[in-house]
Amino acid sequence: MKHLIAVCIMLWACSYTTMSQTQSESSTNEAHQQWMMKYGRTYTNNSELEKRRKIFKENLEYIENFNNAGNKSYKLGLNPYSDLTSEEFIASYTGLKVPSHLSSTKIGSKALLFNLSDDVPTNFDWREQGAVTYVKNQGNCECCWASTAVATIEGIVKIKTGNLISLSEQQLIDCDERSHGCHKGYVVTAYESIIQSKARAQINNFHYVTANDEQQLLQAVLQQPVSASIAVGREFYLYREGVYSGTCGTFINHGVTIIGYGITEEGVKYWLIKNSSGEYWGESGYMRVLRENGENGGQCGIAMHVVYPIM
Ligand SMILES: *[C@@H]1O[C@H](CO)[C@@H](O)[C@H](O)[C@H]1NC(C)=O
Ligand SMILES: *[C@@H]1O[C@H](CO)[C@@H](O)[C@H](O)[C@H]1NC(C)=O
Ligand SMILES: *[C@@H]1O[C@H](CO)[C@@H](O)[C@H](O)[C@H]1NC(C)=O
Ligand SMILES: *[C@@H]1O[C@H](CO)[C@@H](O)[C@H](O)[C@H]1NC(C)=O
Repeated sequence: MKHLIAVCIMLWACSYTTMSQTQSESSTNEAHQQWMMKYGRTYTNNSELEKRRKIFKENLEYIENFNNAGNKSYKLGLNPYSDLTSEEFIASYTGLKVPSHLSSTKIGSKALLFNLSDDVPTNFDWREQGAVTYVKNQGNCECCWASTAVATIEGIVKIKTGNLISLSEQQLIDCDERSHGCHKGYVVTAYESIIQSKARAQINNFHYVTANDEQQLLQAVLQQPVSASIAVGREFYLYREGVYSGTCGTFINHGVTIIGYGITEEGVKYWLIKNSSGEYWGESGYMRVLRENGENGGQCGIAMHVVYPIM
């Protein structure tokens, strides 16, 4: 009798474990199904489905563990990139090159057009001035370099002319011969190609912000939306909301547009960033990144390579 009970308990314990395993597996599968429907994702065959489901599961667990730990100024979440590994994401969705001839001493050698002053607002957002177009999606094209070049030109055109016009990334992708279209490119050569062409929006020059100087960067952002570069890692692409203070990649690989800055109720300073990954990413296509984190280069290198067009 004793033995029978022991066996029963063992059997019950075993079946209970398998049951809860299948349960969590089926809930992951279900979460994946729902995610696929939400973002219109399909896979060509079953092995691809299995592979993607596994990555999705790993990302989902990472997100849940991260968010449950609480205590961070930002949260992660599911978005259109949740079935990709960070390597895949970086390989396919970033795409910024920093010109090698730009040593950090040369960056910032061009004079600023403005004077630093103490009299700056606590919060500033170019969207409120109507100088930012809708969030675009670079899709599976490593052309963030063109997206951010275009966003900064849209900004300066609005500031100088009063008109907000949505400009074409495609034109840059096609016309900037020194960049590589959907295979990565340079923001400054994008500007140069526009300066040389007879584009609809004529800029006549561009300037750098002194590298690693977040005070000067703030002054530049007050003047107009600027183009910056960041080192993107895993938590970056799983970002959902809050002020990003997390892990970074090891090298600068993504171009973004800084369109403002501010300080949260908790006193966390941030840069406001417009991204080119569509509105489903982050805070409706925007991200806040820790400002003045005390490190040279800023959070994920955001203050290392900043440039803006002159009109
Ligand atoms: C399944 O699809 C993937 C991605 O399209 C492809 O690389 C792979 O070769 C396919 N496998 C089979 C067995 O058809
Ligand atoms: C949250 O993290 C900070 C350091 O980042 C630590 O000082 C604090 O004790 C943590 N709070 C909780 C509730 O874990
Ligand atoms: C900056 O300050 C200098 C000296 O006060 C002044 O001559 C110059 O015009 C100012 N530049 C701008 C852009 O305000
Ligand atoms: C923007 O989108 C890219 C994907 O295109 C993502 O890697 C990145 O983390 C997002 N955020 C920022 C601030 O670039």
